[in-house]
Amino acid sequence: MEAPFIFGRIATDENFTDRDQEIKHLVNNFESLINTIIISPRRWGKSSLVHKASSIAMQEDRTLKVCSVDLFNVKTEEQFYTVFAQSLIQGTASKWDEAVENAKKFFSHLVPKISIGTDPGSKISIDFDWEEIKKNPDEILDLPERIAHSKGIRIVVCIDEFQNISEFDDPLFFQRKLRANWQMHQKASYCLYGSKRHMMMEVFADASMPFYKFGDIFFLNKIDTEHFVPFIKKRFTSTGKTITEDACRKIVALADNHPYYVQQLSQLSWLRCLSECREEVVIKAHSSLVEQLSLLFTNLMETLTFQQTCYLHAVIAGEKAITNSETMHKYHISSATAASRSLKTLINKDILDSKAGVVSFQDPIFEYWLRHYYFRI
Ligand SMILES: Nc1ncnc2c1ncn2[C@@H]1O[C@H](COP(=O)(O)OP(=O)(O)OP(=O)(O)O)[C@@H](O)[C@H]1O
Ligand SMILES: [Mg+2]
Repeated sequence: MEAPFIFGRIATDENFTDRDQEIKHLVNNFESLINTIIISPRRWGKSSLVHKASSIAMQEDRTLKVCSVDLFNVKTEEQFYTVFAQSLIQGTASKWDEAVENAKKFFSHLVPKISIGTDPGSKISIDFDWEEIKKNPDEILDLPERIAHSKGIRIVVCIDEFQNISEFDDPLFFQRKLRANWQMHQKASYCLYGSKRHMMMEVFADASMPFYKFGDIFFLNKIDTEHFVPFIKKRFTSTGKTITEDACRKIVALADNHPYYVQQLSQLSWLRCLSECREEVVIKAHSSLVEQLSLLFTNLMETLTFQQTCYLHAVIAGEKAITNSETMHKYHISSATAASRSLKTLINKDILDSKAGVVSFQDPIFEYWLRHYYFRI
């Protein structure tokens, strides 16, 4: 029997729960062509949410097309242009021969090299000469607007893993170029999201950056217990198994409402029971998850400096005023400067999160492992 939970892939249909408010918000932004930036830590459900909102928006409005551009694995500006053009051409054509035709039609200075897979359903791939792109980047950056005009539609371009642009050779110059082009568009809007919270904040919330005030920034939250409990119950029931209310709440509490971990822990608990899942099963499943991840966590700790480790120790111990001299002495933190440097690096590494001055862990299982296995508090 196939397990009724998924993690690490986009949650759709019966695997997707809640987010009613966020979907409404996003669909409304899409339909009104309002640029949107979604920020949240890793694996809280950005891609799943955008996927869901896109299909609803397109069903509601046939003149609206949502195109997805995934920058996963895109490390250079050159790759960006290729992936961007390909996604736009492919995403706005209903058939592959139309895509081929559009690939020729929408470029005048650039000459795309088009290759097509052997079967008719396969995707086309488009490539350009990098030297030519450097001379005519607008031809690619303005594609959404030009396609929208030509087809009499409106286009929302959703760009996933947007933080990758910070790895390009001259990210600031590139961002200026994007913003200059995109802000002129009347028939196209942009939804930008990515997992590196601190980087997304730098790009979109810093007044000195080109993308400052580019659009509506919304912070995605975790999913409430009240939504997760009936969801877990329903998924168990769909396979003929049951789960107690307490066991459901335990899953959500141990996973700290983190959507990915709630699904993973639900899955592990489901696998461990034959008919009814009780709290004891969840506790065992959680221990096995911690164990399964402990090697990864040990490796992660080895990449940290002594000062960063000390800082984590203080956070785990629940210290609020870490730069207080007594606290620094207790946890071997060498100075207030060292503490603030450690915090900055731990945030950059996506280990800690700081929201309104409150420091928290991004990964609830890592936090548990540190507390019970590493620092043994
Ligand atoms: N609305 C939801 N309902 C139920 N589970 C969800 C939901 N959204 C996300 N999840 C769970 O979280 C996992 C991660 O979701 P998703 O890939 O959408 O997050 P993300 O924020 O895009 O992640 P990443 O930071 O890795 O890009 C999913 O595989 C699923 O297990
Ligand atoms: Mg994602």
